[in-house]
Amino acid sequence: MDRKVDALIARMTLDEKIGQMSQSTAMNTLTDAIRQEIRQGRWGSFLNAGSPADRAEAQRIARRESRLGIPLLFARDVIHGYRTVFPIPLGQAAAWDPELVEATAREAAREASTEGIRWTFAPMMDIARDPRWGRIAESLGEDPYLAGVLAAAMVRGFQGGKLDAEASVAACAKHFAGYGAAEAGRDYNSAWIPEILLREVYLRPFRAARDAGVATFMTSFNTLNGIPATGNRFLLHDILRREWGYDGVVVSDYEAVTEMIRHGYAEDARDAAKKAALAGVDMEMVSTSYYDHLKSLIESSAVPMKAVDDSVRNILRLKYRLGLFDDNQRTPAEAKVTPQSLAVAERAAAESVVLLKNQGNLLPLRSDIRTVAVIGPLADSRVDQMGTWVMDARPEDVVTPLAALKHILGDSRVLYAPALRDSRDRSHSGFAAALDAARRAEVVLLFLGEEQILSGEARSRAFLNLPGAQEELVDALTAAGKPIAAVIMAGRPLTFHDTAGKLGAILYAWHPGTMGGPALAKLLLGQIVPSGKLPVTFPRTVGQVPIYYAHLNTGRPAADTELGIPLGTPLKPTGYTSKYIDVDFTPEYPFGYGLSYTDIEYSNLRLSRTSIQAGQSLTISAEVANRGMRDGTEVVQLYVHKLVASVAQPVRLLKGFRRIYLKAGEKQTVSFPLRGDDLAIYNDQLHLVAEPGVFQVWIAPDSTRGVSGQFTLR
Ligand code: BGC
Repeated sequence: MDRKVDALIARMTLDEKIGQMSQSTAMNTLTDAIRQEIRQGRWGSFLNAGSPADRAEAQRIARRESRLGIPLLFARDVIHGYRTVFPIPLGQAAAWDPELVEATAREAAREASTEGIRWTFAPMMDIARDPRWGRIAESLGEDPYLAGVLAAAMVRGFQGGKLDAEASVAACAKHFAGYGAAEAGRDYNSAWIPEILLREVYLRPFRAARDAGVATFMTSFNTLNGIPATGNRFLLHDILRREWGYDGVVVSDYEAVTEMIRHGYAEDARDAAKKAALAGVDMEMVSTSYYDHLKSLIESSAVPMKAVDDSVRNILRLKYRLGLFDDNQRTPAEAKVTPQSLAVAERAAAESVVLLKNQGNLLPLRSDIRTVAVIGPLADSRVDQMGTWVMDARPEDVVTPLAALKHILGDSRVLYAPALRDSRDRSHSGFAAALDAARRAEVVLLFLGEEQILSGEARSRAFLNLPGAQEELVDALTAAGKPIAAVIMAGRPLTFHDTAGKLGAILYAWHPGTMGGPALAKLLLGQIVPSGKLPVTFPRTVGQVPIYYAHLNTGRPAADTELGIPLGTPLKPTGYTSKYIDVDFTPEYPFGYGLSYTDIEYSNLRLSRTSIQAGQSLTISAEVANRGMRDGTEVVQLYVHKLVASVAQPVRLLKGFRRIYLKAGEKQTVSFPLRGDDLAIYNDQLHLVAEPGVFQVWIAPDSTRGVSGQFTLR
């Protein structure tokens, strides 16, 4: 392949090379002008291009009518499903199930590739610790280990065993890097990340994706420590190419090359092209600074020819790896949902839901329940339950909770009153009918949350509460005196502390996708037992943000919540701990948290040895027992904390997890091997080393509890 690629490069004109380095959205429809440009080798790739038939025809022209027959590569954002929609990535992360994530990506790849799309801009693995940022919906949560494991699984799912298999699509690790650290949670904002934090947290999932063989990387829109990621040679060259030995394609984000002008980093488009090319951006998305200026930059020796050849080599290699040069390409056709894709979608939705509260075991509902009142703006909204980034999905494929509940219980047992038109509706005009339904039912099933359009790109929020009159709706419904089980669908952690106190049960469903309805109905009725755990910390109020489990201890950790300061308090140094005086310092729900319909008990932590060397390993195990009446699945989590290090370490760090199925009454021993090298940290010299010292370790149901022990690394 390398020989073929080099032979091809030797025959290419500079214009043809720059064409390969250009990606466009211009092929909305396949006009004569675009046909002519394809013949001339003007484009290497199209994004969001035409119909399957257009793509087939464009590819035929590229292969048969362009001078060198170099195929096009069609790209699209296939983020959490194509025609079949799976839960948003943050929801999928709540399943803590790499095998599931691989399966959803596989289905998405099958559908997208059927339509001639062989490159997706996923997975996104930006660590996000700020739910104001709308793109947290697309993320895999706040923890680098969890996000890395899941990102790698997604890469395997998209790319399949072989990239040139017809149902494989090239994946893209994005956004490189630091995008999730946008200041104040405002999209596209600057990221200031010290190198040690960059390496410990933000880069780890990218490294995992690279190790899983991800075919491409995308640069991020933001500046990282003042330098736009798209012109950042430290990121793209020093780390990605040199340290990590990466030989895939690096694509810019949408117009991110020319946005370097507004960042104040490039003088004009020519300067931007130069900086991106020198940093190592192989392909420019949408803006045309490469096409307009790269030739003269080469001619004036401002950019060496080698930079262009290296980029073209990366791009052509990818096209070979995808099999695009082969003659036996299948003809793109329309993708359809299948029983298999819907089954994966239902399983994914069911696994992603997190039970946050279940007072007096309100859930599951008894199967002989006479009537339920289904209320709320998200009970029957096909579009909203799909979430962000669903350009190819069809609302008619979606089954809502209302439809699923009616299907299972029969129309006559379901009293439906939406109460609010949508999540932002402020009108109380539907409240009376909803209250009436609540009065006539045994239980209220209340579907609250955020519409689809309130999360995702450019959808940052400064308030994280339930929008519109939803909190007032809860207040109004309490007058019926019926228990209320709420299902919250949202693209981010919302804050609903006071409202939660008025609800008997809360299922957090994210935006659950095409089959969210059947999954939720079965969860509510106990046909499925909830097993999701939070991949992100839920704050009590937006004022606590950023709040995440893997924080440092401070010199004055808070032990208790003393709210308020009594009048006349003397100014003396007691109670001077790291907390708030107006809200509890702890989160509303911690990372890793999630309840079940059964009771899981942890006991008996054991260490195979209490002292190891870096090259050795030990096994940590604990007994996990199902003490309840139902079978259930538990996500067992392994955390460590290094007590003393050359750089202060987080109070806990996730190092492993396992989903286990336990029959009622069953007990299992769950073991985690841990190597000394797994404990390596970036030290005060920025070297990755396993420093000797004492470690606390937990096997735990979430990031705040668990059975614990200690061992020493010598
Ligand atoms: C987003 C990327 C996306 C690209 C192409 C950009 O606005 O930041 O995540 O892949 O558009 O649609």
